Amino acid sequence: MKLVDSHGRRINYLRLSVTDRCNLRCRYCMPAEGVEMLSHGEILSYEELSRIARAAVAIGIEKIRITGGEPLVRRGIVPFLAGIAALPGLRQLVLTTNGILLPEMAADLRRAGVQRLNISLDSLKPETFRDITRTGNVERVLAGIDAAVVAGFPPPKINMVVMRGVNDDEVVDFARLTLDHPYTVRFIEYMPATREENWQRLCIPAQEVLDRIAASHELEPVERGAMAGPSRDFRIRGAVGTIGVISAVSGHFCGECNRIRVTSTGMAKSCLFSDEGLDLKPFLGENAPPVLEDALRRLVGCKPARHGMDGEKVEHAAFSMAKVGG
Ligand code: GTP
Ligand code: 5AD
Ligand code: SF4
Repeated sequence: MKLVDSHGRRINYLRLSVTDRCNLRCRYCMPAEGVEMLSHGEILSYEELSRIARAAVAIGIEKIRITGGEPLVRRGIVPFLAGIAALPGLRQLVLTTNGILLPEMAADLRRAGVQRLNISLDSLKPETFRDITRTGNVERVLAGIDAAVVAGFPPPKINMVVMRGVNDDEVVDFARLTLDHPYTVRFIEYMPATREENWQRLCIPAQEVLDRIAASHELEPVERGAMAGPSRDFRIRGAVGTIGVISAVSGHFCGECNRIRVTSTGMAKSCLFSDEGLDLKPFLGENAPPVLEDALRRLVGCKPARHGMDGEKVEHAAFSMAKVGG
């Protein structure tokens, strides 16, 4: 079954956040004091999250990405993932993580049926990494990437949020990682998620990132896969891995957007930047599949044509990625 929105876009991808908690405090994601944590009662149970996933697959979702906060900090995540992986009709179960817990968990995730991991890594330098994450140890993430490969995952996608004056001096180093590692390194435009002043100063347009890499390396475009996300991908000539840019702010991949999201409290959002969501909680009763499916169809029906983040909307943006799941 195909799920198509009112702008003719095929919607086949659900981002499902399972927690707002995180074991890091990234500057671009939360203020120093952290975000006010939701109480356990507000967070959907695994049973409820599974119901949403099942309903989504029933109406045409083929790919589910589990996000957070940091999804691996939620207890009991592995059996939950195994249940989602087993949903008939689901073609891909993938997960985005900061990598800190992968050394312990990678093998279990693989066994549970997770097919691919996206791992956030914003600096290869210990001090810069600590500065960005406020608490993290880069060695843990690097060990996590290795653990994922050893566990049999395909080479991970590595997400670097590029920030001017913070880590942009490492763009070429990150790109060069792909010369001898089969990773996909993705450079993400910094999005104003914490009401930070002067965020425009931090945000480096994707084209500038590409130009910087192209100044010393020849780039070839790479074909997009059928269920590709917003990334535009390239290969440095002769490299084993690829690089990608996600122009979350400057570029409009809205025209090709294929996704909806559900937060860990059950708010469904048709766009990352939607102010309001559709509360799914009233539709989560045990015998609710048809109403839940209807609610998700309605959400898809109201998906906006595009976000306004390059215009005036940006002044009003205030959401935490940890709550929405990126
Ligand atoms: P793939 O499915 O592997 O391509 O992953 P993805 O890029 O969809 O997901 P990931 O969790 O790795 O997110 C990478 C970056 O893209 C994050 O900074 C997200 O916030 C951003 N992103 C994901 N979806 C959207 C979206 O719909 N709009 C915008 N503006 N940014 C998004
Ligand atoms: N701008 C861009 N990307 C962000 N992420 C989190 N917050 C932001 C932001 N303000 C990224 C994380 C992770 C992905 C899910 O979202 O680095 O890789
Ligand atoms: Fe945690 Fe990810 Fe937010 Fe960093 S970006 S604080 S790792 S949820």
